[in-house]
Amino acid sequence: MRRAMDLLEQDLSLSAMGFLVTTIHTLNGAAMGLLVLWRLRLRWERPVVVAKMALWVHRLMYALLLVMVITGTLNYYFGLSFAARWHELGKWLILGLVLLHICAALWHHFVVKDSVLRQMLGIASHTDTMAD
Ligand code: HEM
Ligand code: HEM
Repeated sequence: MRRAMDLLEQDLSLSAMGFLVTTIHTLNGAAMGLLVLWRLRLRWERPVVVAKMALWVHRLMYALLLVMVITGTLNYYFGLSFAARWHELGKWLILGLVLLHICAALWHHFVVKDSVLRQMLGIASHTDTMAD
């Protein structure tokens, strides 16, 4: 993606692969933004009940995903290069949070032994967690 942007900045044309990567990245990013907004609306209508730590990690992940979509758009469509730096920093923050999130899911499954992970996989219902 960065190499493709460098070529575009120098007014050079992209290879077919560069075009594909750029198109898939921006369209997937936009789809992600719409899905996040839709999920946040559903959460607003029917708030989720989870531990405080999980609530804040989830909120931060949603906020960072939106930051990625906004900074990516500002860089790609409006040529604001300062946004690229935030896009790159956001990448590391999301990566850190997702690793924490995955460790928490595994911890719930293997140490606490509740149904949080099975719920996510669709093989247990929310009421199972309450029963645990
Ligand atoms: C959730 C949404 C997104 C995620 C997780 C994401 C993630 C990433 C990552 C990991 C990189 C590589 C950064 C690096 O090389 O250090 C990148 C680069 C880039 N992304 Fe995204 N992206 C998202 C949405 C978007 C959108 C919607 C656009 C534009 C419409 C976009 C435009 C770009 C551009 C232009 C670059 C190259 C930046 C540069 O020149 O260094 N991204 N993105
Ligand atoms: C191996 C990868 C992953 C595992 C095992 C995992 C597991 C889980 C589990 C068990 C839940 C709780 C589901 C529930 O309450 O029913 C959850 C929720 C969530 N996950 Fe993941 N996750 C993974 C990857 C990711 C990634 C990559 C992201 C974001 C980039 C993410 C974002 C979220 C968010 C935002 C929620 C809250 C959903 C809500 O609105 O209720 N997860 N995940």
